[in-house]
Amino acid sequence: MKLSIIGSGYVGLVTGTCLAEAGHTVICVDNNEAKVQELKAGKIPIYEPGLEELVRRNVQLKRLSFTASTREAVANSEVIFIAVPTPPQEDGSVDLSYVEGVAREIAEALSGYRIIVDKSTVPVKTGEKVAETIRRYGPKGVEFDVVSNPEFLREGSAVADLQKPDRIVVGVASERPVAAMRAIYEPFQAPIIITDLNSAELIKHAANSFLALKITYINLVAAVCEASHADVTQVAEGMGSDARIGRAFLQAGLGYGGSCFPKDVSAFIRIAEELGVGFGLMREVEKINAGIPEKFLKKIRTSLWTMKDKKVGQLGLAFKANTDDVRCSVAIEIARRMAEEGAKLRCHDPKGGEKARELLPASIEIVGRAEDVALGADVLIVATEWPEYRLLDWNKIKSLMRTPRIFDGRNLLNPAEMKSLGFEYTSVGR
Ligand code: UDX
Ligand code: UDX
Repeated sequence: MKLSIIGSGYVGLVTGTCLAEAGHTVICVDNNEAKVQELKAGKIPIYEPGLEELVRRNVQLKRLSFTASTREAVANSEVIFIAVPTPPQEDGSVDLSYVEGVAREIAEALSGYRIIVDKSTVPVKTGEKVAETIRRYGPKGVEFDVVSNPEFLREGSAVADLQKPDRIVVGVASERPVAAMRAIYEPFQAPIIITDLNSAELIKHAANSFLALKITYINLVAAVCEASHADVTQVAEGMGSDARIGRAFLQAGLGYGGSCFPKDVSAFIRIAEELGVGFGLMREVEKINAGIPEKFLKKIRTSLWTMKDKKVGQLGLAFKANTDDVRCSVAIEIARRMAEEGAKLRCHDPKGGEKARELLPASIEIVGRAEDVALGADVLIVATEWPEYRLLDWNKIKSLMRTPRIFDGRNLLNPAEMKSLGFEYTSVGR
């Protein structure tokens, strides 16, 4: 089918590329001209395992193209996906101005029946507002349907998540777009849940908030494990082997971050409360999660006695492993806080260094080789769980450090191994 995606970022670019790979003809639109030129030149502005060769292949096969013109995309596709940002506003509610703007641009470009699909994460009842906007700004008499099709891809495994989704969620207000939506996703051979617009929009916020709740719960259990000399990884294994609980998302660490969970939890709280539903449970989740970095810093502060002029080596800046995304990264927050307290930081990240640079004060050094963070360091912190950090020469790292202290915020390393190497090793809930 002929499709277009408006907003070619982590969500839009990956979605468009995977739809092209599935055999569709896809136009990816972006209002950032520079980004469009980069993409046309085969330069991918984000790191996502497997994405680069998929983009190249589908551009060569002429199934994937890029433009800054929404009008061109609308004229040349049957189905138009909206994948522009829905960032949080000051009060935590969702800024829908990009979605509204794109809905208007699509309306003004309409010349025949089209299906407009909202892929961005939006508050329930946004689909109705998108339809209203298109009716208001579109040509009289031109028919269209609005569909909600939320995305569940995780950064760092987005291509895999998209190509083998657990389910496709499609919210419709009438039967008419159902056949087209089934045809789009037929190559993915995944279960499709056809429901109404509002339920589809709510599934996304409810799912993300539940995952954030699950992570917060295991971080709470980790605190109890620490106080009772239990091991949270063992407790998580014992809990997670119950099919009703499941092993995923029981990894204790520094709390959830990233461009989705914080904003989706905050949005869901406001949506519920605006609808008159008390959401104290999720407010408590927000509060607990926000307090985790400070608890981690307190452990480090106690060990160092004072932070001033201490040399700190930090491994990891991205919000999680296998991505270059540093948006709402707890690793960035921790580095920034320690620098503010006078520590001298040397940081490394396999992919996120460049994007982290603009978020960190100039006093923080970003090095190209992981072990260089250890030079003369009083303490070494693991802030992002990149698997390659497990393979470092920890003996050598110990010899580079001034004092062999490790604070492993992601339980990446093996406690017995690190202690046998002579490190004073602290982790989370173990
Ligand atoms: C974002 C949110 O993170 C996600 O929750 C939401 O569901 C979709 O938008 P993401 O792809 O991570 O997803 O955003 P980002 O990487 O910032 O990409 C958005 C792209 O849209 C950017 O390339 C931006 O230039 C483009 N854009 C933005 C438009 O093309 N038009 C606009 O009006 C605004
Ligand atoms: C999330 C959802 O998983 C995805 O379905 C949705 O489409 C977008 O939001 P993402 O934010 O890319 O995906 O990453 P995810 O792997 O969910 O991690 C989110 C945060 O939780 C990260 O900060 C991560 O470090 C943290 N996390 C995740 C934990 O602390 N423990 C875990 O067990 C899992």
